[in-house]
Amino acid sequence: MSNTEQLREMAKTLVTPHKGILAADQSPRTMNKQLEALGLPPEAELRRKYRQLLFTTEGLQEYVTGVILHDGTIRNHADDGTEFSDLLIAKGVVPIIKVDKSTVPHTNFEGEVVTQGLDGLADRLQEYYDMGARAAKWRAVFTISENTPTEQNILFDCMTLARYAALCQEAGIVPMVEPEVLFSGSHSLERAEEVTTMVLQKLFEQLQWNNVDLEGVILKSSMVLAGSEWSEQTSAADVAQATLRTFMNSVPPEVPGIVFLSGGQTPQRATENLDAIAELEAQEGGFPWELAFSFSRGLEQPVQEAWQGKDENIEAAQAALIKRLQLNSMADQGTYDPSME
Ligand code: G3H
Repeated sequence: MSNTEQLREMAKTLVTPHKGILAADQSPRTMNKQLEALGLPPEAELRRKYRQLLFTTEGLQEYVTGVILHDGTIRNHADDGTEFSDLLIAKGVVPIIKVDKSTVPHTNFEGEVVTQGLDGLADRLQEYYDMGARAAKWRAVFTISENTPTEQNILFDCMTLARYAALCQEAGIVPMVEPEVLFSGSHSLERAEEVTTMVLQKLFEQLQWNNVDLEGVILKSSMVLAGSEWSEQTSAADVAQATLRTFMNSVPPEVPGIVFLSGGQTPQRATENLDAIAELEAQEGGFPWELAFSFSRGLEQPVQEAWQGKDENIEAAQAALIKRLQLNSMADQGTYDPSME
C-alpha cells in the first residue's frame, strides 16, 4: 500500500461508526490542575496512575478507535513496565500524539494567541511514528469577542495547521487538525457560526494550497455554541442546525471524518448536543463525513470524580468511563437516552 493509501485507511479507521476518540492529552500543567481540583498533589506518579486507569479499562476498545496522548504519556508505562502505547496497540487502539507546543500571545494582536511547535516537528514525528503513533493532533485556538478573531490571527494559525498537516502526512501520520473556537465569551450562536465558518473555510483553503490530501485528514472541531456568557437559551436542536450548516458551508466532502471536542460543556450537554447532531444528520439523509466524539473533559470529568486518587476507586472510575463512552456511542447514533444518566 502506498503512503497515501495507508493514511486514508487509517483516517477511516479512526472514525469507525459509533466509536469515538478519547482525548487524554492534557499537558502536565492541566492535569495537575485537575488533580488539585480533586484535592490531590500535582505529582507525576499520580498522573501516570490516572492514565493507567484509563488505558487499562476493560472494553475501552469497544468504544474508542484511538487515544490522544501527550509527549510525557507516550513515553510512560504501566506498573508492569509495558509502554502505554504498546498497551493501547495490543487492544487495537491507535495511539495519537499531541504535537503542538501550546499557545503564546500573538504579538501585536491583543487578546489572541497562536500555536507554536513547528520547529523540529519532522524529526519528532519520525520518533513518534517509531513509538507507534499513527495520528497526531495540533490545536489552534480562536477567541470570539467584538474584535476577534482577526483575519491575521486566522490566517497565521491556518497556515501553521496546514504546514503541520503536510509534515504529518510525509511521516505517514494522519493529521487531526483542531481549530478550536472557544466556548467562553458572550457571543450569540449566529456569531459562533459566522466565526467557525470563516475559520474552517480558511483552514481548508490552506490545506488544499499546501497539497494536503484531504482524504487522509481528520477534522477535530468545536460544536457551534453560543458563548458560555450568552444571555439566551439555545437548544440542542439549535446547536445541531448551526453546526451542520457550518460544516456544509466549509468542509469539503473528501474529508473522511469530523470529531468533536467538548470544549468546557458539561459531559451531559456535550452528549445531548452530539445526539441532536446525529438525529439531524439522519433526518437530512446523511452527510459526506463520519461524525464522532473526541472529548477530554466530556469523558473524563465523571472518571476523575469517581477516582479521587484512590486505588480502591479504580473500578468505579473505569465503570464511569465506560458509562460515558456508552452514552456517547448512543448519541453518535442519535439514540441517547438522558434517563440513563
Ligand atoms: O484539545 C482539546 C482536547 O483534545 C479536547 O478537550 O473535550 O475537554 O474540550 P475537551
